[in-house]
Amino acid sequence: LKNRLCELVGVDFPLFAFSHCRDVVAAVSKAGGFGVFGTTHHTPEELEIELNWIEAHCGGRPYGVDLVIPENLPGAATGGSAAALEVPKEHRRFVVELLHRYGVPIEDKDETWNFELRFMPERATAMMDVAFRHPIRLIASALGVAPQSMIERGRDHRVPVAALVGAKEHAIRQVNAGVDVLVAQGTEAGGHCGEVSTLVLVPEVVKAVAHLGAPPVLAAGGIMNGRQMAGCMAFGAAGVWTGSIWLSTIESEMSEAFRDKMVGARSRDTVRSKARTGKYSRQLRSSWHDAWESAESPGALPMPLMNRLSIPAFAAIEKSVAGGNTAARDLISHFVGQGVGLVDGVRSVASVVGEFKEDFVEATLGLQALLEE
Ligand SMILES: Cc1cc2nc3c(=O)[nH]c(=O)nc-3n(C[C@H](O)[C@H](O)[C@H](O)COP(=O)(O)O)c2cc1C
Repeated sequence: LKNRLCELVGVDFPLFAFSHCRDVVAAVSKAGGFGVFGTTHHTPEELEIELNWIEAHCGGRPYGVDLVIPENLPGAATGGSAAALEVPKEHRRFVVELLHRYGVPIEDKDETWNFELRFMPERATAMMDVAFRHPIRLIASALGVAPQSMIERGRDHRVPVAALVGAKEHAIRQVNAGVDVLVAQGTEAGGHCGEVSTLVLVPEVVKAVAHLGAPPVLAAGGIMNGRQMAGCMAFGAAGVWTGSIWLSTIESEMSEAFRDKMVGARSRDTVRSKARTGKYSRQLRSSWHDAWESAESPGALPMPLMNRLSIPAFAAIEKSVAGGNTAARDLISHFVGQGVGLVDGVRSVASVVGEFKEDFVEATLGLQALLEE
C-alpha cells in the first residue's frame, strides 16, 4: 500500500498505534504498522531510556512519539506552576471514603496528592529535546494546537508534526498553525475526545482542509480491525490511528483485571466523563463514575487537579485488586473507547497487526468484486 502518508513516515501499511507501553510500540512497528509512544507519564530522562529500548526492539522500523501539551490549564494563570495548586480537602475526603467502602487502603496525606505531574507544558521543551535526538519519524501533539516550537523543530529535523482533533474547526486551526498530519478522532475513541462520531468527523475534516494543502488525515476512534480501516480509507482517510485495541494485547501494560473487563465489556459500557482528568475523556464505566455522578459527589475538578486525585486513587485500586481484593474490581476503569465491544480475547500485537492486514485486503477486494460483477 502506498500513499503520501506512507512515504512521509516510511511504512507500507498506514496502521498507527498509540500506546504508553514501549513493548506495544516496538512490536507494532516490527510487525509493519507504525507505533507511536505516548509520553504522558515520563520524565525526559525516562523518555531517553524508553526510546533507546524501542530502537533496540523495533527491528529498525519507523516509530513516532506523542506529547500531551495541554492548552489553558489553571496553572498557566499562576505562571505555569500547577505544582502549586492543591486538591481541596472535600475532594480528598470523597475519594478516600469511596475507596475505603471497597476495602482499598489509601492515606489522606499531602504527599498522596501533591506529587509532580509529568505532562505539564513547562516540561515540553525538555521532552522535545530528547525526542528530536532520536530517529523519530513523526511527533504528535494532543490537547490543543501544537506549539510553534514543535512545528519549527519538526521542520528543522524533517519530522512531520501530527495533531489530534475532535472538530472541524480545530483541524483548520492546526493546519493554519503549520501541522503536517491530522488525526481526526471521533467521540468513540478512548481517552480525551469530542462529540462528533468518526464516521462524520473524518469526511468533514478531509473536506475542510482540502483547500489548505490537503494534509493527510488519519481516522481515529472505534477502529479495531482492518475492515473498519478499509471503510475509513474509503471515505477519505490516509490511514488509521488506533489506541484501545492495543490495551487488550499480551504485550500491553494493562493489568489482567482490566483486560478481563475489556473482554467482557459491551460497546455501551464506556462513558465520556470529566471524572478522571477534569476534561471529557472516554473510559470504561465503573463504580468510580457512579460515585462522581451521585448526589454526594463534590463534582469533578479541572485538569490537572483531577489527575492528582485519580492517579493515586487508581494506583491504589489496581494494587488492592492485584492483592486479592475482589470487591475493588467494581472500581477498576481505564481510558478505553466504544470499540471495546469488539474485543473478544487477548492476543499478541503481531497477530492483531497481521489480522488488520488480512481483513483490510479482504474488505477492499470484496468491494472491488462488487464493481466487477
Ligand atoms: C489508554 C489511552 C490513553 C490515551 N492517551 C493519549 C495521550 O496521552 N495522548 C494522545 O494523543 N492520545 C491519547 N489517547 C488517544 C489515542 O491517541 C487515540 O486517538 C484513541 O485511542 C483512538 O481511539 P480508539 O481508542 O477507539 O482506538 C489515549 C487513548 C487511550 C485508549
